[in-house]
Amino acid sequence: MKVTVFGIGYVGLVQAAVLAEVGHDVMCIDVDEAKVTNLKKGVIPIFEPGLAPLVKENYEAGRLTFTTDAEAGVAHGEIQFIAVGTPPDEDGSADLKYVTAVARTIAEHMTSYKVIIDKSTVPVGTADKVKSVVMETLARRQANLPFDVVSNPEFLKEGAAVSDCMKPERIIIGTDNNQVLDLMRELYGPFNRNHDRMVIMDIRSAELTKYAANCMLATKISFMNEMSNLAELLGADIEKVRQGIGSDSRIGYHFIYPGCGYGGSCFPKDVQALIRTAEHIGYQPVLLQAVEAVNAKQKHKLFSFIQRHFNGDLKGRTFALWGLSFKPNTDDMRESSSRVLMETLWEAGAKVQAFDPEAMEETQRIYGTRSDLALMGTKEAALQGADALIICTEWQNFRAPDFDLIKATLKHAAIFDGRNLYEPERMVQRGFTYYGIGRGASVNPVI
Ligand code: UDX
Repeated sequence: MKVTVFGIGYVGLVQAAVLAEVGHDVMCIDVDEAKVTNLKKGVIPIFEPGLAPLVKENYEAGRLTFTTDAEAGVAHGEIQFIAVGTPPDEDGSADLKYVTAVARTIAEHMTSYKVIIDKSTVPVGTADKVKSVVMETLARRQANLPFDVVSNPEFLKEGAAVSDCMKPERIIIGTDNNQVLDLMRELYGPFNRNHDRMVIMDIRSAELTKYAANCMLATKISFMNEMSNLAELLGADIEKVRQGIGSDSRIGYHFIYPGCGYGGSCFPKDVQALIRTAEHIGYQPVLLQAVEAVNAKQKHKLFSFIQRHFNGDLKGRTFALWGLSFKPNTDDMRESSSRVLMETLWEAGAKVQAFDPEAMEETQRIYGTRSDLALMGTKEAALQGADALIICTEWQNFRAPDFDLIKATLKHAAIFDGRNLYEPERMVQRGFTYYGIGRGASVNPVI
């Protein structure tokens, strides 16, 4: 099938590449000329395991093309994906200007039937807006052309985006015209094997499904973070509690890891956007507000341990920081807990020596060159001359470090572990003061 994808960001590029991989003829459009030129040379704008070879192979095979020519893009596919960004505006609502601009472009240039698919995470009611933008534009052109709008949200996780897209757990299709379903079945047939993964519903339910999924997951994490704070105050070990509750199949082991807060491009933005949507229609989303508040507080958790450990005396100290990205296997720094921590440490007059396997270039791009930030070539180099070690991201290569070397290099044998990578008892035996989330030296019962 001929498919056009507007927006070569995370979602658009991965979706385009996997559609090309199964044989569709995919044209990607972006306004960013440099991005398009780079992609043609095989330079991928993001770090995502498995994506670079997939893009290269399919580009070379001619099934995946990149251009800034929107008119050519509209002419190319009967299927037109909208996968552009929906950044939060000043009050945290999703800003739809890029989505409606693409809708207008499609309507300006189309000369035959089009299926317009909303792939971006968009607030409930966006498909209706897209529909009216297309209708207005067609009316202005005095063109009476048929089209359908489908809501088809994406559920890929960064770091596992290619496999999530190749083997989706569900394919949500929101439509008010069931005739479009044959086309959707043809498009997604190669991904819809063994059992039917397509869940068909009305457009608004599909739009809300995406937010409900992300908000549910964010809620699980904030819930566990709250439990971990209680565990500390009550002298319990959250790790044991996690295993205890996860064994209940109704709760499950996924997304119940407490930590130094969730980040990324989805959870913070989507929780906030749904809060705004609810408020706009006069509903107080008490639970979602709490999810957000717990997360904001949790991002300061490690700093409060550090302050306690050093009795508030942080000026002039240097901290080794392992892990900058918001989670492992990505270079994405959006809403990462490491940023809140670094910024708070800097305000307190401390320096940071950081190492991350993938996100150092991105960190450099965000913060530029500054005297209180040093990006180090290895995790061991980050320890040199540092007072203590802080861990913000659970990269695999941080799980079994040389503890003797850490102890010998740090000025104070203290580890502030935001991802509970180590066993508190073992760490104490090795001579460290160890702070975990809801465990270790952080456990300081008040009753
Ligand atoms: C998420 C959703 O998982 C995905 O389905 C959606 O389409 C986009 O948003 P992503 O942002 O890539 O994906 O990351 P995810 O793996 O979900 O992690 C989000 C954040 O939650 C990370 O900061 C991670 O460290 C944190 N997290 C996750 C926890 O703190 N505890 C957990 O148990 C799981």
